[in-house]
Amino acid sequence: MNKILIEASGLKRYYQRGSETVKALDGVDIQIHAGEIVSILGPSGSGKTSLINLLSCLDAPTAGKLSVAGKSVDGLTEDQLVEVRRGTLGFVFQHFSLLPTLTVTENIELPLMFLGLKPNPIHTANILASVGLTDRATHFPRELSGGQMQRVAIARALISRPKILVADEPTGNLDKATGESIIAVFQRLAASEGLAILLTTHNAAFGAIADRAITLEDGRIVNEIRASS
Ligand SMILES: Nc1ncnc2c1ncn2[C@@H]1O[C@H](COP(=O)(O)OP(=O)(O)O)[C@@H](O)[C@H]1O
Ligand SMILES: [Mg+2]
Repeated sequence: MNKILIEASGLKRYYQRGSETVKALDGVDIQIHAGEIVSILGPSGSGKTSLINLLSCLDAPTAGKLSVAGKSVDGLTEDQLVEVRRGTLGFVFQHFSLLPTLTVTENIELPLMFLGLKPNPIHTANILASVGLTDRATHFPRELSGGQMQRVAIARALISRPKILVADEPTGNLDKATGESIIAVFQRLAASEGLAILLTTHNAAFGAIADRAITLEDGRIVNEIRASS
């Protein structure tokens, strides 16, 4: 079995809404290994985004233990969490979030600017190739299809060499065939780079393509299916 990249036990995330406590997550145990695609399924409001935000250190749990890349993140300050995210995690969102005035290459290299790093043209070219966008390097987002825009967003998430790619509803804005092509990109990345990929989806068919599909209901895991490979 590959190295464990994320390990959580008893994860809870409660929100206070007036006098009501919303138990968005109510005791989740999960392990994510290198090279593995794990999909989180479940109806709207079941806790998928809450879970993925905790596992990727964007939010802190109400209770529970969490380790990322072999390091406990319990009780870390926001600055320390930024450091953990920076070296380990790449993020992909439903709405792509590309900057319209930048080319594909500039969008992909943008995170490096925030880190004060110089882009390496060979690294960028390799990433463009890995998502099948070599011939779109100098195009602008408006010249791309939805699937191509999402592949740019995946490339942007890869630029800082993460170990874990986290994607909240990455196929949510795409039709079925395009969604499948995005899942195929994830599968190639997991196989060739050993990336762990953690994604949420409404679409059970995409979940079935993952190595593991975990279904949430009311903040608890109610089902877990392992692909027989
Ligand atoms: N910031 C918040 N404040 C209060 N309640 C929240 C907040 N975020 C999410 N929730 C609630 O937590 C539950 C789970 O939400 P979420 O994790 O977004 O589910 P999903 O991504 O599966 O749709 C829902 O009942 C939602 O309304
Ligand atoms: Mg959500």
